[in-house]
Amino acid sequence: MSNFISRRQFLRAAGGVTFLALTPVGAGLFAAPSLGPDVPLLPLFTVLPYLQPGEASTLVEGQESLIVAWQTQAQPADFSVEFGLSKLYGQTAHTRFTSRFSGNPEDGEPRLNYTANLTGLSLNKTYFYRVRGGGQTLAEGYFHTRKARGMKTRFVAFGDNSFGDISDRAIAYQTYKARPDFVMNTGDNVYEGGLDNEYARYFFPVYNSTEAGPDIGAPLLRSVPFYTVIANHDVHGRNLLKHPVADFTKDPDALAYYTAMSMPLNGPNPSQPTPVVGPAKRLEAFQQTAGPRFPRQANYSFDYADAHFLCLDSNIYIDPTDASLQAWIEKDLSGTDALWKFVVYHHPAFNVGAEHYEQQHMRVLSPLFEKHGVDIALHGHEHTYQRTVPLKFLPTDSSKAAQMNSSDRRTPGTFTLDTVFDGKTHTTPLGVIYVTTGAGGKHLYDVDYTGVPAKWVLPDDGSTPYVANFISDRHSLTVFELDGKTLTMTQVDESGREIDRIKVTKA
Ligand SMILES: [Fe+2]
Repeated sequence: MSNFISRRQFLRAAGGVTFLALTPVGAGLFAAPSLGPDVPLLPLFTVLPYLQPGEASTLVEGQESLIVAWQTQAQPADFSVEFGLSKLYGQTAHTRFTSRFSGNPEDGEPRLNYTANLTGLSLNKTYFYRVRGGGQTLAEGYFHTRKARGMKTRFVAFGDNSFGDISDRAIAYQTYKARPDFVMNTGDNVYEGGLDNEYARYFFPVYNSTEAGPDIGAPLLRSVPFYTVIANHDVHGRNLLKHPVADFTKDPDALAYYTAMSMPLNGPNPSQPTPVVGPAKRLEAFQQTAGPRFPRQANYSFDYADAHFLCLDSNIYIDPTDASLQAWIEKDLSGTDALWKFVVYHHPAFNVGAEHYEQQHMRVLSPLFEKHGVDIALHGHEHTYQRTVPLKFLPTDSSKAAQMNSSDRRTPGTFTLDTVFDGKTHTTPLGVIYVTTGAGGKHLYDVDYTGVPAKWVLPDDGSTPYVANFISDRHSLTVFELDGKTLTMTQVDESGREIDRIKVTKA
């Protein structure tokens, strides 16, 4: 594939916005056109309109919904969002705003976070939307609602991505070229601390740029919903015990995962919520903006076409042996009739990299995943691409996994590897395939492991060869195609080259 696409290809691709009246007027600031000297100017936009999955989780015809969100400087205006099955629109979304301080205590400023909830939608339909303000149209775009059971789908996964590096942009561009129905982000989507101002600087400009290019990014977020999971860089402060917490004293705009992102809220009220510290007033302001998303958005699930996705918080403050958490996982996985089951969490259970090998606590959930026929588990955290053989795992000692805030959570156990599966001629796996796709933009780990299987076994795991491929000499993304009983998974590097591929079939 070439690195450049024509104007025609650009328009045919998943751009989503067909008209944008908001023009850049400074770093991260966009202005609406002036309507004359006597008409008050609209506030500057700090984040252009973007899509969020919103609350819809199971696939119900007529009950599909999506959120169009944007952010402005702190001056209210009469914004509205209209939508419909044609450019006649015809329906108006319920639009609301909350206030959020963005930036550090010294030079940050209050912003308004807008969300327009587009509800009552049909499945598998193209909808048009427009954002209006001050009596004029500011942005027009379109999106496609989720596909129903029995339909093909294609999605992209990657993690550990945004910190202003050129590789973030290349991965965004390759994602765009893959034309996904949606993106599954495996966490650490913003560095260094998951702050609101970091999203504004590093995330939105790259995945919602107005043009597409390997050194620009792509206009994805305006037409393609991004699902994401909370990860360690979202919770980057330390408390007095040196345990990770979201520290609102240092960062008044911490935990943007709960304010800028809107995922389904069908998870449990977590028994181990994301820990926060800071002045009561700032915590109250955060809770007000987050609303029911905090702390519930830590775990959720959703369906797309023939697939079910269970998304979990795997942070250091989580004890995956917790009975209530396991009960919910069991209920969720046993309650779906989806042909394909994915689980998504940031900290890989099976990983031979040098950085985070000891963080194995999520291994204790493997028997549950196997019992309920999970096909693929997706992770990030290690800035590498690693794919295991299909495997079953029975923990023999979960005591360290249960120790929250410990750096050593090694979880020994018994491996059963499916060494017959090769993803080419033998395509029916016995066990779960664990995929780490953390080479999504941030600097790479373990570059010298690429193509050296001798490095992919560790004595701590009895030198069990559970890793089938390990590529970290380049950034990459994972493209999934689901077509009935066939799944194709392709790893694509930042220049568009295919570097790994497996096919998985069901009997
Ligand atoms: Fe991470």
